[in-house]
Order: sequence, then structure tokens, then C-alpha cells
Amino acid sequence: MKRVFSGVQPTGNIHLGNYLGALRQFVELQEDHECIYCIVDMHAITVPQEPKELKEHILDVAALYLAVGIDPKKSIVFVQSDVPGHAELSWVLTCSSYTGELSRMTQFKDKSKNKESAPTGLFTYPVLMAADILLYDTDVVPVGNDQKQHIELCRDLAIRVNGKHPNTFVVPDGRFLKSGARIMALDDPTKKMSKSAENIHSRISLLDEPSKIKKSIMKATTDSEGIIRFDVENKPGISNLLNIYSVLSGISIEDLEKKYEGKGYGDFKKDLVEITVDALAPIRARYEEIRNSQMLIDVLKDGAKRADEIAQKTMERVKTNFGLGL
Ligand code: TYM
Repeated sequence: MKRVFSGVQPTGNIHLGNYLGALRQFVELQEDHECIYCIVDMHAITVPQEPKELKEHILDVAALYLAVGIDPKKSIVFVQSDVPGHAELSWVLTCSSYTGELSRMTQFKDKSKNKESAPTGLFTYPVLMAADILLYDTDVVPVGNDQKQHIELCRDLAIRVNGKHPNTFVVPDGRFLKSGARIMALDDPTKKMSKSAENIHSRISLLDEPSKIKKSIMKATTDSEGIIRFDVENKPGISNLLNIYSVLSGISIEDLEKKYEGKGYGDFKKDLVEITVDALAPIRARYEEIRNSQMLIDVLKDGAKRADEIAQKTMERVKTNFGLGL
């Protein structure tokens, strides 16, 4: 069985972009892959975090993992900082990386724009991500499109190390969905939907109340043409909404265009509100059951133990191949 690894940062509530781009894949893959899903808290501290809030967000993401359908009997679910191998391997990989390639990462460039100096953690963020993946001899990494460059760097690092120290790492592949891999912000469809945007109506969080979902969708930016047609370049707003509608309902975009021929954005948005509320209601209900349960803690503890066993084996191999330790 091929091995899958992926992670989500506990930096706020998971939104529709995370769900449609990544988490949906996590659930699907666990049927015929050995899956490892991580809550990457060490990535979260690349920007300042309030300790109490971070703790809560870790449990929020863990509960949402299970609420969307990740089954701890099939998949390993754990918190990154509970397995020391991530930090260890990250250092080894840092020593195999170059400042030039890290400076070219668009996420780093965006986050450090107009700043004289940026936190080092932001700069080495992709190396820690590569360590997450390579630590588990991962074959497949399901992620959204925004992580493409990071996956490429991970592959480059694995290939580079293998060139010097043969058979150290498995070289992984990214897995990106055709639709849903890039959900855009509702208030500005030229930007991706993100957890950190100031305007809460730019995103739909998986735990949003129906009234909030309604408000965010009804306010979503469209255009003045009033025709429901998929055209990302000229009509990014309605195209994004069509994309969300299509993925959540399973109806193709062409069929949706036909269904809404001659109708206005208002009708379309009302239906999309209903579809979204219906899709998220069972997730919210399951989340409420799980969030404060002992079961959740037990799943994370057991997950960390199982992940650590795999990680230790990789670290032994890495240390031997690099000539580290006794
Ligand atoms: P994070 O927490 O930002 O996002 C989690 C996942 O959601 C995807 N995603 C999106 N997909 C579609 N549309 C969007 N608007 C959107 N926004 C986010 C992301 O691509 C991601 O798959 N660096 C990662 C976390 C990470 C990781 C890893 C992932 C750390 N180590 C190892 C895979 C493997 C991140 O920032 O995710």
C-alpha cells in the first residue's frame, strides 16, 4: 500500500478551501492507502501565536479531521510537535538546502514583502514541511495548489540527498485535485481563500453558522454582467462560486450553467447557500460531539506513538547515511 502524508496548520478554523482542496482527498485516500495526517503546530509558530489559543486550535483541527470523515482506525492522526523526528530531520535537511532556493518560495516572498527582515522560521518553513513528508517515506502528498512549490522543493531535497547518500529518502509526488484545488476569497476572487484574511466574509469556515454562511455568500463579489458563466479570467467571482457549487453538489459546471441560464446571481447564490449549509451541517454536528471528548485525546496520543515508530526508523537510516551519532 502506498503511503500518504499531509498536514494542516492549527492557525484558525478550517475553511472551505482547506476542505475542498485537501481534506476531501484525505478522506478518499484512506480507503486504499496507508494515511498519516498531522496537525502541524510547529509550522503555526512561524508567526506569533497565543499559547492558549494554539492549544485550542490544535484540538479544533483534530476534531475537524475526524468530523469530515478521517477514521482513526484507518489513518494515523497526530500533532507534529509530539514526534521529535520532525525537528531533527528538519535540521538535517536545512543543511542540504540553499538560501537561494528558499528565497524563491512565493509564500515566503508574500509573507516577507516590504519587510526589512523576516522571521527565520518563515524562511525555513518549507524545509520543515519537507521533513514532515520525508520522515514517513511518503509516496503521495494530497494538498491544494498553493503548496505546489513546497512539494517541488521537497522532491528536490530528497533527490539531492539521495544523490550524495543513496536510498535515504522516498521521493514523493504531490496530489492536486482538478476542481477545488484553489478556492478563492469570496470578497476578492483574485486571492486564495485563507484562514488569516481580516474580513471574515472572505471565507466560509467549516464551523460557520448558517446565518454567517448566508451572509458571506450573498455578499460575495461577482460582476455586473449578471450571466452565470464559468470564465476565470473575466468573471473570477462567479467562476469561484460555480466551482464551489459544482464540487459540493457533484453537478458539473456545464450543467450548472445550463440550469441557471436566464437566471440572476441572486437565485444562484440562494441555492448555493442551501447546498453549503446542507454540506456543512453534519460536519458541525460531528465536531460538536467529538471536540471535548476523551476519545479525541486518545486518538492523538495513539497516533503520535504510531507515527513516532515510523519516524524513528527513518531517523536511524538518515543518521547512519549521514554518519551522525555514535
Ligand atoms: P494550510 O494549513 O495552509 O492548508 C491546509 C491545506 O489546505 C489547502 N488549501 C487550499 N486548497 C484550496 N483552496 C484554498 N484556498 C486553500 N487554502 C489552503 C493547502 O494547500 C493545504 O493542503 N504548508 C501546509 C501545511 C503542511 C503540510 C506539510 C502539508 C505542513 N507540512 C506536509 C502537506 C505535507 C499549509 O500551510 O497548509
